[in-house]
Amino acid sequence: MGPFLSRTAGADTLQDQLLRLGETVRLGEAVVPPCRPGNLGDPEFRRAHGLKYAYAGGSMANGIASLALAEALAREGLLAFFGSAGLSPEKVEEAIGQAQSELDGLPIGFNIINSPNEPNLEAAVIDLYLRREVRLVEASAYVDLSLPLVRYRVKGLQRRGSGEVESANRVVAKVSRVEVASRFMSPPPEALLRELVSSGEIDHETARMAEAVPMADDVTAEADSGGHTDNRPALTLFPSIAALRDRLQEKHRFARPVRVGAAGGIATPASAAAAFAMGAAYVMTGSVNQACAESGTSDAVRTMLAAAGQADTAMAPAADMFEMGVKVQVLKRGSLFAMRAGRLYDLYRTYDSLDAIPQAARAALERDYFRAACDDIWRQTREYFLRRDPAQAERGERDPKHKMALVFRWYLGQASRWANSGEPGRQVDYQVWCGPAMGAFNEWAKGSFLEDPRERRAAVVALNLMAGAAYLTRAHSLRCQGHPVPAAMSDFKPRRRPELDRLID
Ligand SMILES: Cc1cc2nc3c(=O)[nH]c(=O)nc-3n(C[C@H](O)[C@H](O)[C@H](O)COP(=O)(O)O)c2cc1C
Repeated sequence: MGPFLSRTAGADTLQDQLLRLGETVRLGEAVVPPCRPGNLGDPEFRRAHGLKYAYAGGSMANGIASLALAEALAREGLLAFFGSAGLSPEKVEEAIGQAQSELDGLPIGFNIINSPNEPNLEAAVIDLYLRREVRLVEASAYVDLSLPLVRYRVKGLQRRGSGEVESANRVVAKVSRVEVASRFMSPPPEALLRELVSSGEIDHETARMAEAVPMADDVTAEADSGGHTDNRPALTLFPSIAALRDRLQEKHRFARPVRVGAAGGIATPASAAAAFAMGAAYVMTGSVNQACAESGTSDAVRTMLAAAGQADTAMAPAADMFEMGVKVQVLKRGSLFAMRAGRLYDLYRTYDSLDAIPQAARAALERDYFRAACDDIWRQTREYFLRRDPAQAERGERDPKHKMALVFRWYLGQASRWANSGEPGRQVDYQVWCGPAMGAFNEWAKGSFLEDPRERRAAVVALNLMAGAAYLTRAHSLRCQGHPVPAAMSDFKPRRRPELDRLID
């Protein structure tokens, strides 16, 4: 039982009491119940994934969400996804091997990204996950469900004694549109189940069981974020996706309703508290984790990220879906990438081939952007695709516009690699996926130890966000009961580990 405080208790005394997250505070008529970081979010989410906290570090491509990052989070009971996208199946398999031998039993999943341009790659990664018994994936960038993803979900379905159908393979889907969410909150499409039955992948009984489970266990409503994003505001997106879940649950009556989490812009205790207040089953972060010491990027990028403000991001053409005009959110401050990639997209739209680009413009590209001749880049690119996806190389030979797209995509791909490896002399071309969350985090961290990028550790950041969200939830509860909460109390400054541990325990 916590203390009774006088109505006139000073802000410091009150704050001290509210910081004892596990104790009830009484102030006159008002009662603030305990709220520990481990109480936030949906207990079912924590149970299903074996977590202490309803918090997930999202996948970040090219191993930016590295195994070291995943381990740092997972060891604290936070969910983590390895950033498989953009890596070869061999590299992903290496990471799986390491995770299974050294981090067995920790809550770590792997990313599967929809690749409409490289369907064979998506199928190969799913084969790998099934063969290596990867039991948890984060599925992202889907518009329509693909056959390989449905195959992953339904393989190993089992009916328990109670009649309930259980999935061996858990799917956390990331969406930013209602129509995509609806596909993940419904059973796998019949047409794809039929295809799997006729190819002998599953039997009729499995197809029947599949009608009783949603495609995903969890759906993350991803608002304006780093990387691929529809730039939706969280305050409008989350309630729509949650309401959709309720409608589809009413219709399908799944034994385990789909849980809805929130991502995009979560970088401070206040944003995490707001997401939980909206009913998020869990929160997911991305940008802030890239800025941490364990991420797979370079120190040069971490330093750039630490200087970012809210408005220092821009949308730029995406390497994987360049021709379709899809964009990603990147860091603008300190890099010309967004502007340069936008220029490449404009040239691609205007001209039918590299040879059709006016000589002066092409010379400028070769001198300033590529620092190489287009012909040399094409030679390299062609060789790369002959190994990875020969159809692309052949199409590039036949179709000059496609060849131009592949050459431009070389620059976009290299720009990520230069950033991740901290390539000296290429800083102006770094492609760094990043959302406004980064600026919000930097603002919150200002003046504290977390201002220094070398001090940023993923678990310390996560636990600060969760402890801060619990504290702010308590302060808010007091405010709702008619007690003024002074401005100084509405802030939760970053705390170092020992103090944080005292708060959390
Ligand atoms: C550097 C970076 C790379 C990302 N790559 C992926 C990816 O490959 N797959 C994916 O599902 N999400 C990816 N994301 C999105 C994150 O997993 C997460 O959903 C998002 O960053 C949350 O929003 P925030 O950036 O505002 O925190 C990436 C985000 C960043 C910042």
